[in-house]
Amino acid sequence: MACRRGALIVLEGVDRAGKTTQCKKLVQALQQSGQRAEMLRFPDRTTEIGQLINSYLEKKSDLEDHTIHLLFSANRWEQVPLIKEKLEQGVHLIVDRYAFSGVAFTSAKPGMSVDWCKFPDVGLPKPDLVLFLQLSPTEAARRGQFGVERYENTDFQKAVQARFQQLMRDRSVNWEVIDACRSVEDLHKEIKSRSKAAMDTAACQPIGELWK
Ligand code: TMP
Repeated sequence: MACRRGALIVLEGVDRAGKTTQCKKLVQALQQSGQRAEMLRFPDRTTEIGQLINSYLEKKSDLEDHTIHLLFSANRWEQVPLIKEKLEQGVHLIVDRYAFSGVAFTSAKPGMSVDWCKFPDVGLPKPDLVLFLQLSPTEAARRGQFGVERYENTDFQKAVQARFQQLMRDRSVNWEVIDACRSVEDLHKEIKSRSKAAMDTAACQPIGELWK
């Protein structure tokens, strides 16, 4: 492959850390500088599997913990052909949550182990960079009321944060932690510069496989 593939860049963090805003700003900045970039988000609520997930998150349906975990994972796998195609075409993909949210949220539930939770996502396209927007759950709660969706409460978010910390100890993934407790513009500048470095490195490398 010529040195031209796009980079897969994931933004992770607890709710309200600013992931969605920053993903949008990064895509916009890349496009304005003449690069091809698109945003993806997980869960992708537009697919049939995504609609099951949406109904669960909105508490309109209840699903057994392993079952909903596997649906979140399937919702990523169904996008894999598209992800590979875009990256190979040289499009940078900026992704709002990925398998790390999958593992952090499910394994924060009683009786769910990190190892079991990782397994369905083993072999997904590996992100070239995972930016973790660090914000304490207390500060996140201060940024506004949590909504009414499942998982939107401070105690659960604290447990999720602890699972993210555990996942970040895995050096097979290119994690970078960013302090999200500052202005949208400052955060954007840092995210842009860290992403640029990852894009340059990714260009000549094959797409990796996550947790393999
Ligand atoms: P959103 O608010 O970014 O749309 O995410 C929806 C919720 O789903 C959020 O609380 C995190 C959770 N989640 C999982 O539990 N597992 C997953 O695999 C993903 C991607 C999100």
